[in-house]
Amino acid sequence: MNRRQFLFAAACSAAGVAVLASRPANRAEGGHPSYFAQLERDLREHGLARPTLLVDLDRFDRNLDVLVRELAPRHFRIVAKSLPSPRLLEYAMRRAGSDRLMSFHQPFLNQVARELPATDVLLGKPMPVVAADRFYRALAPGGFDPGRQLQWLIDGPERLRQYRELAAGRELSLRINVEIDVGLHRGGLAEPAELARLLAAVDEDPRIELAGLMGYDAHVAKLASVAGEQARELGRVEQRYRAFLDVLRARRGEALTLNAAGSPTYRLWNEIDGVANELAVGSALVKPLDFDIPSLEVHTPAAWIATPVLKASDALSIPGLGALNRLWQLWDPNRERTFFVYGGYWKARPVSPPGLEENPVFGRSSNQEMLNGSAGVELEVDDYVFYRPTQSESVMLQFGDLALVRGGQIVDFWPVFEERG
Ligand SMILES: Cc1ncc(COP(=O)(O)O)c(C=O)c1O
Repeated sequence: MNRRQFLFAAACSAAGVAVLASRPANRAEGGHPSYFAQLERDLREHGLARPTLLVDLDRFDRNLDVLVRELAPRHFRIVAKSLPSPRLLEYAMRRAGSDRLMSFHQPFLNQVARELPATDVLLGKPMPVVAADRFYRALAPGGFDPGRQLQWLIDGPERLRQYRELAAGRELSLRINVEIDVGLHRGGLAEPAELARLLAAVDEDPRIELAGLMGYDAHVAKLASVAGEQARELGRVEQRYRAFLDVLRARRGEALTLNAAGSPTYRLWNEIDGVANELAVGSALVKPLDFDIPSLEVHTPAAWIATPVLKASDALSIPGLGALNRLWQLWDPNRERTFFVYGGYWKARPVSPPGLEENPVFGRSSNQEMLNGSAGVELEVDDYVFYRPTQSESVMLQFGDLALVRGGQIVDFWPVFEERG
């Protein structure tokens, strides 16, 4: 071998080693860990062979207890969109000793008024005035008194003008809470001077009462990776909130709802004295995948999707790929087996048995989704795959009644909110 040939052979072997080293590792670990194996047995016993949303109440309770402890002495307002079942909300509020709820959707707001009439409700987003009008039209007489228990969110002078017209037209008293921009830049009042002007308009109108402020700061959690930046931005959030409060304090008493935070940031508020007297939290109680962030390390995932396997094979045969199917399997051991499950394409990732993943070439399906795994994945037809939702708010509404789990067994079924009214 001359020098040139030697160098070429050396380069080829280096490239070969590099390619082999970057080969995906086999991610299988056998079948379900004992937690999911128990849930699978119980799903079989209940004859539930369809996609099912499970909420583990033992874990939910632990998350709730952590939350109440960490949040004190502030009040807890539960975020209804993230746990969209009236019974689950009622359960959480009772255990936490709270009657406060944040609502984001007109039909669900009407359902809260019907089914949880003792609740104090703050809107989490400014509703179009037509939706607010519809709320009053759909409101059945009952225990819920919107004039006392409901705060509409107002994000600027034009929205206030519309709500004043609604109040005059319907001869209503409305309580309003003002959305302030504390740094998220998702709307709301940007400057304290705007609040002063808005309050002047409120004072002109005996039908409108100021009930408080709401400043949401989800962006602060996103800065966790930049050294020191999270603490600095939290300090800026506090300053902005205080500047709005100064305008209020010059004119009003203290009995206001001063709302802040959300799951990603509620624990950071331990660093801040005063300013907000209540924090809104929902997702942290079930901790979907998007909430695997440092500030929520003390929380545990508590919601899963379980769905049966319809088909299982030891092949990979994506139409049109021909021999590349085999090459792909040789390259990636996690493509050795193919499964089709009942349903799919949820905002969720497969978590048990470990080592399953969607197939980006075959594509996603809400009818029968393809998953692949290595020969080490113990999974057959009629077994179950468990997914962990990446968020709860839209996912929990897709499966009908929630299945509640205690001690690894399904103990009840609770309906989710309805899109009626
Ligand atoms: C105004 C407001 N507050 C609080 C939250 C926090 O909700 P969660 O705790 O479910 O993240 C949200 C979420 O979008 C929100 O919009």
